[in-house]
Amino acid sequence: MRNPFYFRTLPIDAAFCDREKELEELISHANNRANVTLISPRRYGKTSLVRRVQHALSNQGSATLYADFFGVTSGEEVAAKLASEVYRITHKQESLYDKAIRFFSLLRPVVRPDQESGYSITVEISKGKTGIELIEDAMTGLGKFAAGKNALCHIVFDEFQEIVELKDAYAIEGVMRSHIQNHSNASYFFVGSRRRILSDMFNDRKRPFYKSAVNYHLSPLPMDDLISFLIERFKSQGKSCSREISQKIYDLTMGYPYYAQKLAYHTFELTDTQAADKELHGAFLRLIEEEKPLFEAIIQGLGIRQISLLTALAKEPTQTPFAVDYMTRHNLGSVGAVQGAVKKLERLDYIERIDAVYRVVDPILAVWLKKREVIE
Ligand SMILES: Nc1ncnc2c1ncn2[C@@H]1O[C@H](COP(=O)(O)OP(=O)(O)O)[C@@H](O)[C@H]1O
Ligand SMILES: [Mg+2]
Repeated sequence: MRNPFYFRTLPIDAAFCDREKELEELISHANNRANVTLISPRRYGKTSLVRRVQHALSNQGSATLYADFFGVTSGEEVAAKLASEVYRITHKQESLYDKAIRFFSLLRPVVRPDQESGYSITVEISKGKTGIELIEDAMTGLGKFAAGKNALCHIVFDEFQEIVELKDAYAIEGVMRSHIQNHSNASYFFVGSRRRILSDMFNDRKRPFYKSAVNYHLSPLPMDDLISFLIERFKSQGKSCSREISQKIYDLTMGYPYYAQKLAYHTFELTDTQAADKELHGAFLRLIEEEKPLFEAIIQGLGIRQISLLTALAKEPTQTPFAVDYMTRHNLGSVGAVQGAVKKLERLDYIERIDAVYRVVDPILAVWLKKREVIE
């Protein structure tokens, strides 16, 4: 009996909950050669979803490229990533690969034998060039690659908001935009977990990417679909999880895909034949314990005022964080301090404002913050 739940990016053949409408709409946008920003908090299933979009497009004969910008530190690195993706997908076919080499003038492929996958491709960068020049070259090459295809060329830039942290970010945005608008045979998906930053890039009229993409927001998993998914997954491996327990998994995780899978994973582990409150409770403690290092790292990256506000919002979501009684009750300092903290926490996407109420985005972080207060 194998545990049927996953909490890493879902393999293409793993069971997938809902997202049918999203898949259909995203595939349609791609086929229309539209560009899309796909936005949600982290671990909502964006990467898993775009993989499926690309799998379907690839079955239709499209070329699909994927570059993850998470953790990039320079323009040079961005350029190398883009070129190496073109080399990777053309490498299997000699004639294509020979062409691909001519698409770039500053970014040469270096192929080395590799024990796991047979070979690996890295990119050698011409010396003395700036990050902007290299990105210019990478985007030119990408454009030539796309133009040479009869079919759609679909390109995903995952965690794209990371480029705003780079030196010369504004110029990089400008170069990318000016190329992308001419790649008429391509559809770009800009995927991001820091919603404010990504949506500012595309919705601020002073920015290069202004209004160049369809804004697409991904929601948590719908309640009914998630409940049926959980019941069915347990059943597929010979155990059972009642509607009532599945409902509790939904409630505890608020349909947050990663947490729903992880809580279900541990509940399954602890269950003999039929999941009950005892197993669910044990699983929830395990979940919080496992996330603790990440939560601690989040806290360590914040200032004292930001931690106080985050904790206050975990305990008591509010419409009025600037009200004197709220600030006093939670020891938040001055209005100025709270304003600064709100801004910073929103940019990091740790808090959000829904229906005028400020709250912590991550439901499990919120639980942990509340517990932490009690322990200390
Ligand atoms: N449609 C789905 N059905 C079931 N689980 C999902 C679904 N989408 C995401 N998940 C779960 O959420 C986790 C995080 O997904 P991921 O695609 O990495 O999110 P993101 O890219 O938004 O950070 C996955 O490992 C998986 O466990
Ligand atoms: Mg992702």
